[in-house]
Amino acid sequence: MANPKDDPEYDEWCDPDNPRKVKYEDILAASRRMVGQVIRTQCPRAHMSEKLGLDLYMKQEFLQVTGNFKERGVRNTLMLLSDEQKKYGVISASSGNHGAAMTYNAAKLNIPCLIVMPEQAAIAKIVNAERPGAKVLLHGKNMAEAKRFAMTTAKEKKMMYVNGYDHPNVIEGQGTIGIEILEQLPTVDAVLVPCGGGSLLAGVAIAIKHLKPDTEVYGIETDKTCSMVESLKKNERIFLPIDSSIADGLAVNRVGVNTFFNLKGLVDKMVVVKEDWVARAIMHVVEEEKFVIEGAGAVGVAALMAGLFPNLKGKKVVVVISGGNIDTTTFGRALERGMAAEGRLVKFKVSISDRPGGLAELCGMLAGIGVTLRDCVPERVCVKEAIFNVQFKVICETRGWDHTKELVDVIKKHYKDYLFQDINEHPEKSSTAKRGPCLAPNPVCMQK
Ligand SMILES: Cc1ncc(COP(=O)(O)O)c(C=O)c1O
Repeated sequence: MANPKDDPEYDEWCDPDNPRKVKYEDILAASRRMVGQVIRTQCPRAHMSEKLGLDLYMKQEFLQVTGNFKERGVRNTLMLLSDEQKKYGVISASSGNHGAAMTYNAAKLNIPCLIVMPEQAAIAKIVNAERPGAKVLLHGKNMAEAKRFAMTTAKEKKMMYVNGYDHPNVIEGQGTIGIEILEQLPTVDAVLVPCGGGSLLAGVAIAIKHLKPDTEVYGIETDKTCSMVESLKKNERIFLPIDSSIADGLAVNRVGVNTFFNLKGLVDKMVVVKEDWVARAIMHVVEEEKFVIEGAGAVGVAALMAGLFPNLKGKKVVVVISGGNIDTTTFGRALERGMAAEGRLVKFKVSISDRPGGLAELCGMLAGIGVTLRDCVPERVCVKEAIFNVQFKVICETRGWDHTKELVDVIKKHYKDYLFQDINEHPEKSSTAKRGPCLAPNPVCMQK
């Protein structure tokens, strides 16, 4: 029988036949080791507390130098390398936050570092990871191929492959966030943690359950990235195909060996939030807290906004805002989707007179009720309307559902042929369909 250790992808630190128990004492040692090495991020009370009906605090990990918490796990791992390993260096496959955290920290500690990204990696991600003294190499059509190449190179060049979500020292480093949260807010009732491969959730849960076991710890995934929920349901690490996600930091097909082993039975509940809510959370955090966060960092806020935690009303809750690295295109799309989901961007078609003054009349009507015209495209060919009519595809901005209803009423009153699109939460049907965090039907929750 073939020896699994001969497989180039075998990683002695993340061995399915020998998962490693991560101990609180090692997280405590990491937190002492890393004083002055990573930023002790603040955890202030959020302005959104009142709207959400709880005492909400945000652990602002997007304030780390590379804009995310991954620096903690990486720094801890690098500091624990033997002198010999420091000479050979470290390697990983990542086109996200882990890669940037690796090159930054390795460069700081003068440790050779190579990050492998797929050939198609976005330029922004390549640039984000490039640092003097550390290399980014493009190889393979996808992450699986990049990872295989990185692990083969690790063995050839005696570099250490650092799994960004499963190496035990990485999990210990992420766990230091749990210790800090309890130092900053000793009376916290619950902590909400984003979950991808699981290092952040496992580390935080181990620390918090050791120090204050009555604090509830929840893991949050999106409906497109729920590999941990599916694995826990089946009690094995399943492979979940993932297309794309607004929370790309959570897009891990198969969760870690060590993370799965450590967080099973420790986390109170896994909760899955729909991606629409993540876009809305990104938008509300910008509007109400005044900072920019990425999808993976927004899932805790999204779950609260989506009404998935009725049990936390009036409680003291910390959400870990794990990162702020969102590219401008995704950010723009998230804002637009968030606005559309809240009835603040409305799309409709309307047939109006093509004679002088027809369009002016429509614009005047919109201006009269304070609606902003965002886009307006005429369609004269292949339309069935009267010969001197023109159909316009219109996109408008409103203040929310009530204002949208006013717009619908005005258009209905003045025009015969119109069609409103994607108004799926009609104000008359839902008393909660207003601007601002509101409650939605409960998507998927899972008990431990
Ligand atoms: C911003 C952000 N949040 C959360 C996660 C998930 O972390 P983990 O893979 O340790 O579960 C990641 C992973 O890259 C991330 O970049």
